[in-house]
Amino acid sequence: MKGGYSSLLPLFPLIAISFAAVINGPPLIPAMFMFGDSVVAVGNNNKFYTIVKANFPPYGRDFKDHQPTGRFCNRKLAADFTAENIGFTSYPPAYLDKKAKRKHPLIGANFASCVFCKQLEYYKEYQVKLRNFAGEPNATAIISCGLYLVSSGSSDFLQNYYINPLLYKNNLSNLTLVVLDIYQPLLDIVTNSSDYGFAEARRACCGTGLVETSILCNPKSEGTCKNASQYVFWDGFHPSEATNKILADDLLVRGISLIT
Ligand SMILES: *[C@@H]1O[C@H](CO)[C@@H](O)[C@H](O)[C@H]1NC(C)=O
Ligand SMILES: *[C@@H]1O[C@H](CO)[C@@H](O)[C@H](O)[C@H]1NC(C)=O
Ligand SMILES: *[C@@H]1O[C@H](CO)[C@@H](O)[C@H](O)[C@H]1NC(C)=O
Ligand SMILES: *[C@@H]1O[C@H](CO)[C@@H](O)[C@H](O)[C@H]1NC(C)=O
Ligand SMILES: *[C@@H]1O[C@H](CO)[C@@H](O)[C@H](O)[C@H]1NC(C)=O
Repeated sequence: MKGGYSSLLPLFPLIAISFAAVINGPPLIPAMFMFGDSVVAVGNNNKFYTIVKANFPPYGRDFKDHQPTGRFCNRKLAADFTAENIGFTSYPPAYLDKKAKRKHPLIGANFASCVFCKQLEYYKEYQVKLRNFAGEPNATAIISCGLYLVSSGSSDFLQNYYINPLLYKNNLSNLTLVVLDIYQPLLDIVTNSSDYGFAEARRACCGTGLVETSILCNPKSEGTCKNASQYVFWDGFHPSEATNKILADDLLVRGISLIT
């Protein structure tokens, strides 16, 4: 393989993600639910004492107001682009976000990557709240016609920990399940990075680009790049926004062709 893969990739077994999109009924998608690891997380850990955080600079630096949100990226995640691709104008909030809790839960919620939480238990709690808020028929429609995005490094874990309980314990038994791999597309981008317009696929943007992730990727990290859109990876573990856009568009194309 010419030039070799990114020196980062061997550190990336957990980015060998499978995305599971569970889609039911008419194409109208009322809500989105995200589960899994930090690749789809939007800030459930912000208030907890944990090193698995991204609510400080330079995370989020390419948002309009340069505010970190808890996303492990310079800006949007593949899950954000997926929400846009299916017509959402805002993103399902982190379930544990206090402000989000006061808002209505009708567009879904993000349960991903909370360290001290059992994601599926929070999902159950959410369902109860949704029923109280929206009434039984509407809540049932939202839950059973929502899009479910589940991200995990291991497909066994994905199946046993998320998908089986989601399907069998939550009355989602009639859903169509599509499992999409984003590891291969990511590998394609790394291998043929210049075809995708990237200048750098071996080092990440943050810091030296070799290890800095979470608390190691911070305002004092030396060497952080100026233009993350030229980098395949944002930090030592997570793709840049530019990569996430490509991954999300690819997911949409493959997801739609698999369910229609
Ligand atoms: C249920 O959904 C319908 C159609 O969107 C809406 O008109 C109605 O107000 C909703 N009911 C509740 C309790 O939110
Ligand atoms: C599944 O649906 C049945 C019938 O609608 C209901 O009695 C049961 O409580 C539901 N189970 C869960 C886990 O929601
Ligand atoms: C699944 O579909 C069958 C047949 O349409 C229906 O009888 C059943 O109630 C559905 N189950 C759930 C949990 O929606
Ligand atoms: C890189 O691009 C070439 C030519 O388009 C293609 O044949 C090859 O499969 C790509 N490599 C990867 C890992 O996708
Ligand atoms: C950042 O890089 C992208 C992709 O190479 C390029 O299109 C853009 O103009 C650059 N932006 C700046 C501010 O240099």
